[in-house]
Amino acid sequence: MNYPKETSFLTPRMHSPQHCWMHDTVRTADANAFGGGGWIRLAPALLAALLFSAPGHAETQITFNKQIAPIIYKNCSGCHRPGEAAPFSLLSYADAARKAKTIGKVTASRAMPPWKAEQVSYAYRDERRLKAEEIGLIQEWVKQGMPEGPDADRIEAPTFGSGWMLGEPDLIVEMPAAYHVPADGPDIYRNIAVSLGLTEDKWITAIDMKPSARAVVHHVLYFADGSGRAHEKPQQGSEPGFSGMRAGVATIPLGGWAIGAQPHFFPEGLALRVPKGSDLVVQYHFHPSGKPEAEKSVIGLYFAKKAPERTLTRIQMPPHYSLFSGLDIPAGEKDFVLRDSYTLPVAVDGVGVGAHAHYIAREMKMTATLPHGEMKTLLWIKDWDFAWQDRYYFQQFVPLPQGTKLDVEIHWDNSAENPRNPSNPPARVTWGEESKDEMGSVSLIAVAHEESDLKRLNEDLAQRSRRIARQRMLSDPDLAKRIARILSQ
Ligand code: HEC
Repeated sequence: MNYPKETSFLTPRMHSPQHCWMHDTVRTADANAFGGGGWIRLAPALLAALLFSAPGHAETQITFNKQIAPIIYKNCSGCHRPGEAAPFSLLSYADAARKAKTIGKVTASRAMPPWKAEQVSYAYRDERRLKAEEIGLIQEWVKQGMPEGPDADRIEAPTFGSGWMLGEPDLIVEMPAAYHVPADGPDIYRNIAVSLGLTEDKWITAIDMKPSARAVVHHVLYFADGSGRAHEKPQQGSEPGFSGMRAGVATIPLGGWAIGAQPHFFPEGLALRVPKGSDLVVQYHFHPSGKPEAEKSVIGLYFAKKAPERTLTRIQMPPHYSLFSGLDIPAGEKDFVLRDSYTLPVAVDGVGVGAHAHYIAREMKMTATLPHGEMKTLLWIKDWDFAWQDRYYFQQFVPLPQGTKLDVEIHWDNSAENPRNPSNPPARVTWGEESKDEMGSVSLIAVAHEESDLKRLNEDLAQRSRRIARQRMLSDPDLAKRIARILSQ
């Protein structure tokens, strides 16, 4: 992304800022009071009154060109531009002025820029959060009638090159055929595989994608199929790919894309391995939009120059998105909570956190209680919104010694008062893949502090999730049948 050069704010000016402020104030007053005559015609007493009135009264004029454009271009235009997620552009004065009142509202409430995580014990990278002063400037600008300001202050709108937020990808793959999503009906899970043609192993540092029918693509998950055979799997029905939530048994998860999520590079040279000859399997979650759409995405892969020294892993709590955690929410239940705890068998470094749930989740939190008892918060989302699923990467690795206890709690609100409840009246909700079903987990993305401990960590995690699954199946024999049904869909 090329933001406007800072130097453009430093254009030599004739007046000092204070002088300018007085000048502007006087000019405005003059134009209003005297219908456009020169400001020297002001009576000296009036001039003095204007210049020396109470501080609260003498407002600096806030203009788009000077104070507002830098805020909008840096924090909004990335999404608010043609072809991106937002419904209108914010690339000029006219764009911003047209929407000024709503901009004032959504920035004050912090609905925009979208960023669901609270500020916690550790700072996140690329945090989309306006500073209080910036929110104040926007409020003031709207109050003052959205002045554009002098041309001399104007800065260029940012340009975004090819339209890939992270720059030109190393490999661009286009899905072989469009998937046709009908106007309505249930959500669709569909896996479409494409051969990557890799003649050597590669390390993925980021994946981005451009959907052709943004309205229907709820989210996608990417997998690498090392066997390179997924694209040969027979197509089911007349549309490309095969259905269900399973991309294949032996696939490597590579992360995903969701409405509102921005692509990120893994920090510190971390990357995920994709073996040569792999297929990329894209698992789509389509949500019909009310009109028929054809989705044929273009996917951009970014590769590391060399293999990373440390291996990423994921501590998901509860495991399997709560499949074995007793997620069964009665209709009308206002605060249904699931909790999970895990004590680290080895020291890890926290790289980031991510969360997933469907519509009626309300709040989720992950804390770490360090061995000496101090409690830190790693993620806290107070107002979960299905539409904004982001990954939150820490600015610096978070050291979590062996013996640190991780705790996760997820709250759901299945009452009629929850405006995001898709069922009206509320209905019993159980674990499932439709968006009216629920699932939920918070994941710590991490590396073992010592690479040699990775195996022990992964084994411990696998054992734990098997144990949780076994216990649940024993206490709920019906679950095994339900799972078999889900997996066969
Ligand atoms: C990560 C992408 C993204 C960023 C960054 C972003 N927006 Fe948005 N914005 C959206 C999307 C998508 C929508 C459509 C509504 C929705 O899905 O919430 C939207 C909607 C809006 C709306 C309409 C809200 C309504 O209720 O009608 C306004 C106004 C707005 N954004 C202003 C801003 C401003 C101002 C900024 C920067 C301070 C900003 N946005 C930053 C993606 C973004």
